[in-house]
Amino acid sequence: MIQIAPSILSADFSRLGEQVRLVEDAGAEVLHIDVMDGHFVPNLTYGAVVVQSLRAHSRMRFDVHLMVEKPELLIADFAAAGADHITFHLEATCHVHRVIQLIKEHGMTAGISLNPATPLDGLKYILPDLDMVLLMTVNPGFGGQKFIANVIPKIQVLSRHIQQTQSSCLIEVDGGINLETAPIAVKAGAHILVAGAAIFAQPDPQQAVERLRQAAHSMKSE
Ligand code: DX5
Ligand code: ZN
Repeated sequence: MIQIAPSILSADFSRLGEQVRLVEDAGAEVLHIDVMDGHFVPNLTYGAVVVQSLRAHSRMRFDVHLMVEKPELLIADFAAAGADHITFHLEATCHVHRVIQLIKEHGMTAGISLNPATPLDGLKYILPDLDMVLLMTVNPGFGGQKFIANVIPKIQVLSRHIQQTQSSCLIEVDGGINLETAPIAVKAGAHILVAGAAIFAQPDPQQAVERLRQAAHSMKSE
């Protein structure tokens, strides 16, 4: 079962609650919340206070994607705000194992994200501890960028490894996912599709969720 994760990065922030309700009513399972610090990535977004405001209005799984340096400093705040899951970047800390334990101690599931150029090797000794791996299919920092097709073999290799080891770790893809690229990512092995512009920049975000789901299911995993 493929899950659709609308990214609020492309939402209209003047009516954020309304926009989140739209995609929840359309059946999206996960809400993807991109947190940027202006250091790890060249952009700034929002913090735990936004998660806290939205929590009262949504039952979706809140999937927080930390694109920040020192992610360990933010875990407690996002847990208290109502996050269900936190993904941080392998490139952002040298204390990867410690941050995963911290996320789990706070009752959330844990994921690691890799930038497009980062190989899978760094996951070797940590994969059994992970609930999810987020493979970036654009360079992190902005919505509306073009899908980087060179990441497809990386999705395939990780998918095969997860199947061979009978791991329950999920693969999430993030960046440039639309009606054309969603089936390609699913075929390569993705389980969760993040989509910002392909949902919130469309005239009808609800219909966009449904169309993306249809496109994703048109292609079975290898
Ligand atoms: C980019 C973010 C993405 C972003 C994707 O750094 O991690 O979640 O919202 O946006 P689209 O789907 O527009 O590429
Ligand atoms: Zn993201």
